[in-house]
Amino acid sequence: MAEIAKQTPTDKEHLFRMISHALKSGQKLVMLLDQLLDITRIRAGKLVLEKEDMDLKSAVLEWVSIVSIEARQKGSQITVKADDPVLGEWDPVRINQVISNLLSNAIKYGDGKPIEVTVFNDRKINCAKLIVRDQGIGIPEDMQSKIFERFERAVSDRLVSGLGLGLYIVGQIVKAHGGAIRLESSPGKGSLFTVMLPLGEVSKL
Ligand SMILES: Nc1ncnc2c1ncn2[C@@H]1O[C@H](COP(=O)(O)OP(=O)(O)OP(=O)(O)O)[C@@H](O)[C@H]1O
Ligand SMILES: [Mg+2]
Repeated sequence: MAEIAKQTPTDKEHLFRMISHALKSGQKLVMLLDQLLDITRIRAGKLVLEKEDMDLKSAVLEWVSIVSIEARQKGSQITVKADDPVLGEWDPVRINQVISNLLSNAIKYGDGKPIEVTVFNDRKINCAKLIVRDQGIGIPEDMQSKIFERFERAVSDRLVSGLGLGLYIVGQIVKAHGGAIRLESSPGKGSLFTVMLPLGEVSKL
């Protein structure tokens, strides 16, 4: 903001661009701090879940509408396949983090191609399933288990920037819920992440 004041831009459009740049930088900093705090919490065994009845389908639809502009700017269209509500007892804040991280990766590494999100109850294994599939750069086989560790990345920072923390946090949140995350991917063809969350005892929403 101080820089903005110093440069005293002459036209409104320039001023608007500078303010929105400053706001975006602030948001990025807050996100970074949140991620680092989460890592510290997880390492200290202090990731406490506040579970409540929630609908995974609604949470996914809400996030897709939030990120769809960013996806479109990159050329990707996101489609959601979900028939019924997917009810379970999970921590809504943490589940939103799982959804947003997987969507943000699909957009970031999705090469501007279509992204498909599927949410459903898998009654056979008594789990809710969230599947995020892109047709982007994919992940080499030797990196597929590593990317769930802290600071591990399968792509150069010069090509796509990132810290390599998102999937570690996602994995830990899913594990804390008693669930699991699986990855299938081929370089150049895309990636498919499947999150499985146990369906706890839920009252009807
Ligand atoms: N959908 C995807 N397609 C291809 N590669 C992916 C995908 N999702 C993750 N990756 C790879 O896994 C790595 C780890 O992902 P992760 O989300 O943890 O970190 P990041 O995206 O690099 O940074 P951030 O911490 O900001 O999310 C990425 O750097 C990328 O190499
Ligand atoms: Mg990421």
